[in-house]
Order: sequence, then structure tokens, then C-alpha cells
Amino acid sequence: MAVSNEKVHPKVQEFLQKGPRKLFIGGQFVESYSGKTFKSVNPATGDDLCEVYEADDKDVDRAVDAAEKAFHGPWSKMSASERSRMIWKLADLIEENLEPIAQLETLDNGKPIRETRNADVPLVIDHFRYYAGWVNKFSGEVINNSLHPHIFTYTRREPIGVCGQIIPWNFPLLMASWKLGAALATGNVVILKSAEDTPLSVLYLAELIQQAGFPEGVVNFISGYGHIAGAAITNHPRIRKIAFTGSTEVGKIIMRDASKNVKRVTLELGGKSPNIVFPDADFSKAVPGALHSIFFNQGQVCSAGARLFVHKKIYDNFLSDMSNAASKIKIGPGLEEETQIGPLVSAKQYETVRGYLEKGKEEGAKALTGGVTNEGPGYFVQPTIFADVNEQMTIAREEIFGPVVAAMPFDGEEQIADVVRRANDSEYGLGAGVWTTDVRKAHKVAHALEAGTVWVNCYNLFDAAMPFGGFKQSGFGREMGKYALEMYTDVKSVWVNLE
Ligand code: NAI
Ligand code: MG
Repeated sequence: MAVSNEKVHPKVQEFLQKGPRKLFIGGQFVESYSGKTFKSVNPATGDDLCEVYEADDKDVDRAVDAAEKAFHGPWSKMSASERSRMIWKLADLIEENLEPIAQLETLDNGKPIRETRNADVPLVIDHFRYYAGWVNKFSGEVINNSLHPHIFTYTRREPIGVCGQIIPWNFPLLMASWKLGAALATGNVVILKSAEDTPLSVLYLAELIQQAGFPEGVVNFISGYGHIAGAAITNHPRIRKIAFTGSTEVGKIIMRDASKNVKRVTLELGGKSPNIVFPDADFSKAVPGALHSIFFNQGQVCSAGARLFVHKKIYDNFLSDMSNAASKIKIGPGLEEETQIGPLVSAKQYETVRGYLEKGKEEGAKALTGGVTNEGPGYFVQPTIFADVNEQMTIAREEIFGPVVAAMPFDGEEQIADVVRRANDSEYGLGAGVWTTDVRKAHKVAHALEAGTVWVNCYNLFDAAMPFGGFKQSGFGREMGKYALEMYTDVKSVWVNLE
């Protein structure tokens, strides 16, 4: 363990020192069959944090056995009230461990502690409580059929069974909770694979799942690589559903692999979201809003406002205000209290983003601020605003997943049709932002944008009750809200002849 910092919570120190962290299968912490391990790295320093056992198809198989046993055994026999209380108890335990979890997430992912402490972990807690409330409220319905009155018909919402969940590294624990909440509330059992760059926080969560009293095998956590452990999950004949968050490229592989046994699939994929600032926008809100839309979480957000359309009339002033503010953002290790932007998650992501910065400059974009990476140690990238971008440039089309925004002016009498067409000109459709004080324009644009989420005079707000997901190649299916419950159930129609 390479964290020698007196600020690190004793529980985190203990967690990291416990030596190769094990897989969580059938309610037990176990070594992988192969005995192989991999290292989790602290992106603020590039040093190793700790080793983690690496799963392959044999471990996934063992997890499926454990999950099926729980599904047909104690889990399905539990009352809705008991299940609800268990999920609520898990939320309480996370709340009691908020500080160590926030620190562990910051160490493993790099994100600022002020975000893990005030956003990630509180959202996780809230998420479990929200779904604890749904357990005895989501049900089928009695249906008035057109046949004879003695034919009684109703539907039931049945859990799907063993669900595979594959999550990314940008919000490790939050992505796990988005997927676990709805799955557990509807009575499913889960095999969740964390991202290879951030395996730690879910393994801490595993200890709390044990304490909350979930029957063995209801939740299983697999650490390992996508093409090995991830592929073992998507190809497993006894796993009935895959919920995936990650790149569009891998989303396509997952759809293909899942087709073998017609797994249900929900995908939350990439984005290149437009953020549109009209000339009547309130600068005092829109400037910090546009900064937050792209720099939150080092820009490693699938819905990041990466294409910034600013009306010609205000373009220069708006970008100058943004650049001034951006140059004051504090970059540093996530554990330091004043840090606003931490390192990117990994050397790989750092190289990817560095490549895009070079590409942007080569193609003629002008960096008003940033445009460079910091020398190591750590994977720090300066928050970057590119102006003079045109829509054909690579930085205006591809998902960068770093703190880099491509700004473009727009014009037009009506101010709507042209910019909406340009905003929609993307293979993605995850998020979008609109900044205006004209209520009619706000709604018109919100309705015309091809995106799963539109934020008006705000950006990157999330809540357990609001569905989230994509249009077009940003995926399909929804997480959160009531919609996510539908994604974790099959509808059964029951016909009863009362005569
Ligand atoms: P990725 O899509 O490869 O990884 C996401 C998850 O999928 C990880 O758990 C990984 O192990 C798993 N995975 C990878 N290959 C798999 C396979 N063949 N079968 C099953 N599971 C597999 O994303 P990566 O490589 O970490 O990042 C690359 C780019 O993807 C980023 O630069 C960003 O553009 C995008 N991305 C989007 C995210 C989102 O929230 N929509 C999250 C993470 C990355
Ligand atoms: Mg790490």
C-alpha cells in the first residue's frame, strides 16, 4: 500500500493493507480460481494502491451457481417488507461509513474528495433509500378483458433472475448503486463486475452487504478485465439480463454476445452532448453552468456538455468569462480539500485525452485556456476550452471523456432551428443543455433535442426518481426512477376461469 498520509481514514488504511482484495461470491470473500491478481493504482501519484484478485469464467460460473441458489432459495421467500428494510439498512450502513467510502473512491478514481463526500456517496445512499421504498409499491395490475365476466385477468411483475451488471470507472460506487437498487427492489440476484481501474469501493460495499444481512449469493462482486470476466458474464447461458454502462464500442460487443441466449439488455453508453447558450441567458448562471457541465468529474461524465454552442452576439464575452473562471480552477490530488479537478482515472485515459488535445490543435482549434497536460506524477490534464472549432473536427465529433470543451458560435433569425439541427447532428443522444430566460424557447428546444435528458438553466443534475438513459447510439433502456423497475422485471399475464 502506497498511501502514507495521516489524513487517510483508519478504515481505509486497514482496507488497503488487507492484501489482495478478494472476490465477493456467495456471501464470502474468495480468491479467484486462477490465483491471479491485478493492481489498482492511485491516479494522483501513479503508485499502486493495492492488489485485487482477478476473475475469469470459472469464477463467474461459481457466482452464477451462488446467485441461482439465492434466487430459488431465501431471497424469493422473503417478504417485501423484509427486503425493503434490508436495502434501507444498507443505505444506513453506507451513511455510517460515508467518510472512508468517499476517501477510498477518491484514492482509487482520483476525483475530488469534496465531490465523493458531497455528491457520489450521498447520491448512493439516497438511491438505495428510494428503491427500498419501491419494493412493495411496484406491481402488476388487474385488467378488464373483453371476454366473459368470469374470466379474471391480471398481470404480475416477476423478477428476471440472475442479472449481470457491468459498470465503468467514472462513478464506481454510484454506478453500482444505480444498477443494484432497481435489481434488488424487484427481487433479482446480481453478478456485478467493477471496472478494472476502480475495483475497490464495491468491495468495501460488499462488507456492508454482509452486515445488512442479505442472503448469501444475492449480490456477487467480480473484479477483473472486460474481455475476460466481462465477456464471461455477457456470454453466460444462465445469466438472463445484462445492464451495461461504458463505451459505445463495448456496448455493441455486449449486444452481440447477449444475443446468444436472448438476454435482456440495457445499455448506457457514450455521448457528445450539446450545451446551447442563447443570447438572453443569465450569464451569472450560464457561465458556471457551462464550466460545471464539462469539468465536473474531470470531464469523465457520459453526459458532459462537450459541444458548447454559444450565440454569436455573446460568443466572445461568454468564452472570455468562462476562460477567466477556468484558469482559476484548483487542480490537485483528490484528497486535498481545496481540489476542484483531480487527475484522470488512468494513464490510458490521460494518453487518450492528450491525443485529443494534440488533434484539436493540429486541426486548427484554439485553446483559450488549458490545452496541455501536466507533467507527472499523476494523470493531470488542464481544463481546456477550444474555440474556433468547426463541426467536422475530431474534437467536435468524438467522445473525449476529459476536461475539454469544443466551443462553436451559432447564428440565425429564429435562433432555434439551425442550432437544434447542429446539436442533433451526432450519433449520440445522451444529454443536452439549454440556457435561456425565455420559457417558450426553453421548452421548444428541449422538445426538439434528440437526447435522453435535457437540462434547462442547469446541468448534470441527477436524482434517483428521474430516469436516465440515451437516444440513438447512447444506448437504450433507462436507469433510475420507476422506469428502471420495468427493466428488471418480466410481465406475466394470468388468466383465471372463475366458473
Ligand atoms: P469500456 O467500455 O471498455 O469499459 C466499461 C466496462 O466494460 C468495464 O467494466 C470493462 O471491464 C467492461 N468491458 C470492456 N470490454 C468488455 C467486453 N468485451 N465484454 C464485457 N465487458 C467489457 O470503457 P474504457 O475502455 O474504460 O473507456 C474507453 C472510453 O469509453 C472512454 O474514453 C469513454 O469515452 C467511454 N466510457 C463511457 C462511459 C459512460 O459512462 N458512458 C464510462 C466509461 C468509459
Ligand atoms: Mg485506481
